[in-house]
Amino acid sequence: MRELIRQLEEERILTKEEFVDLLGNLTAEDEIVLKERANLTSRRYFDNKVYTRGLIEFTNYCKNDCYYCGIRRSNRAVERYKLTMENILDCCREGHKLGFRTFVLQGGEDGRISDDEIITIIHKIKEEFPDCALTLSIGEKSYDSYLSYYKAGCDRYLLRHETANEEHYRKLHPDNLSLENRKQCLRNLKEIGYQVGAGFMVGSPYQTLEHIAEDLLFLKDLSPHMVGIGPFIPHHETPFANQAKGTLEQTLILISVIRLMLPNVLLPATTALGTIHPNGREMGILAGANVVMPNLSPTNVRKKYELYDNKICTGDEAAECRFCLERRMKKIGYELAVDRGDFQPI
Ligand code: 5AD
Ligand code: FES
Repeated sequence: MRELIRQLEEERILTKEEFVDLLGNLTAEDEIVLKERANLTSRRYFDNKVYTRGLIEFTNYCKNDCYYCGIRRSNRAVERYKLTMENILDCCREGHKLGFRTFVLQGGEDGRISDDEIITIIHKIKEEFPDCALTLSIGEKSYDSYLSYYKAGCDRYLLRHETANEEHYRKLHPDNLSLENRKQCLRNLKEIGYQVGAGFMVGSPYQTLEHIAEDLLFLKDLSPHMVGIGPFIPHHETPFANQAKGTLEQTLILISVIRLMLPNVLLPATTALGTIHPNGREMGILAGANVVMPNLSPTNVRKKYELYDNKICTGDEAAECRFCLERRMKKIGYELAVDRGDFQPI
């Protein structure tokens, strides 16, 4: 195992079999070594700086029906909302005062929002905050739509691939969604020039070590600028309500493996990680993550954007989360960075 860790560190990509072997057979001591190596790698590139992104969950309408997701179309129990332009700008204003220089606009695949509306939002944010990077995370769109957002000034796009295995993809999604289209979207986004984020859930239902190995090979091949991973956590109003959640341990191992495989990638310690363990995000940073994404959404909508049960911070103001995270990072020897935190090629 130590030899595989060393090879990963030297950026020799492992084979699928080797990844399965590594993920399945790490001893407790191997895990410590893996985390240490990953932590050293992230310190080499990012020192003790943690990048922050202010997350604005601007709509929870969604036309999709992914089996794992709490805001899926079929969930009638969730009250739907969409923030107004002024609401969104207010979140950015508050965020900017708090030191955020990246805003992430995330939403369900809200079929009622037109490209023109998205473009207006991008223009307004970029006009008022020219020193900030803007990230969109609104799902699968056509090449032309992606291009129009990019031309309007959007810098980055997050679209987790969710799983790189066809069969597994079909177990997580209804028939109208395809892995092929999702991958094509990611390739299109890259071609257009976005900084692109992919990723997947750890411990999603029916996931095997072979699937995870395929996810890692897919990531290496795509070579995204950002990778978002977090544990799967069941939501009580979904078909996966009674499925087991992903584990802290496996999520941390994968954060470390991804850090070694893509040494300069932007890798968040996610809210889901903070939800399955009170110190999950701190442990994520120590295992090789280098980004946190606190919530800037207005408190009155936060509960309505529950992708999974017991999501943290749904009662906290933006400022509380910002200072809470600053405190948490300080405790483990890290500082929040006040800049855009763009991807830096090696
Ligand atoms: N548990 C954990 N993560 C989830 N996501 C959606 N539903 C869940 C869940 N139940 C993740 C998906 C999506 C991202 C926005 O949130 O990976 O891409
Ligand atoms: Fe939200 Fe700690 S980050 S309360």
